[in-house]
Amino acid sequence: MKTLIFAGSTRQQSYNRQLAHAAAQLATAAGARVSHIELADFDIPLYNADLEAKGTPPDVMRLKQLMFEHPAWIICAPEYNGSYTALLKNTIDWASSPVKSDPVWKDGFRSFSGKVVGLLSASPGGLGGLRSLSHLTPLMMNMQCWVAPKQFALARAFEAFAEDGSLKQDAHRAGVQAVVDQVLWAAQKLHA
Ligand code: FNR
Repeated sequence: MKTLIFAGSTRQQSYNRQLAHAAAQLATAAGARVSHIELADFDIPLYNADLEAKGTPPDVMRLKQLMFEHPAWIICAPEYNGSYTALLKNTIDWASSPVKSDPVWKDGFRSFSGKVVGLLSASPGGLGGLRSLSHLTPLMMNMQCWVAPKQFALARAFEAFAEDGSLKQDAHRAGVQAVVDQVLWAAQKLHA
């Protein structure tokens, strides 16, 4: 199953990027064909309809295509002020904006519709960024995605990772694994 994994942070030492890496390893071991992307590698400005009227940025088109090609996604979402990051929202807004001049991409939901989406979060705090997921869930459902009911929030992320980037605790690995397994299971059902 082609699985797209990304984090909603571009910070060098981002816990969510580390969590995405751990999820990618577990998903690969579970048989998924993983594309682990970094949003930092996409040159996407703040959404502005005037800018868009001059042409959708090439990296937005590249991201739309990548999303379209992957039936399963895992998003690692940091929590800022009790919600998901502006980076994630901006990325989703651009990726969902219809390209009116293009018959293939004039449907804004084309990249999102029917995707099976697993949600993870990591935070130095005690709730692990859980409130980010409580906001991201209805957003992704609004995008016509199927959001896996199993979610995992990694608390005290500053002490959770080993030197090689793996999760130290069995319970944390099991939490990520449960989400990965449910995403792959549901994607097989919906996209076989
Ligand atoms: C935060 N952080 C944070 N953490 C949390 O658990 N709940 C919150 O509501 C917030 N709010 C918040 C707001 C803003 C503006 C910033 C910059 C940070 C802390 C946040 O979890 C921490 O910076 C993480 O390290 C961010 O994720 P990455 O970049 O490590 O993936």
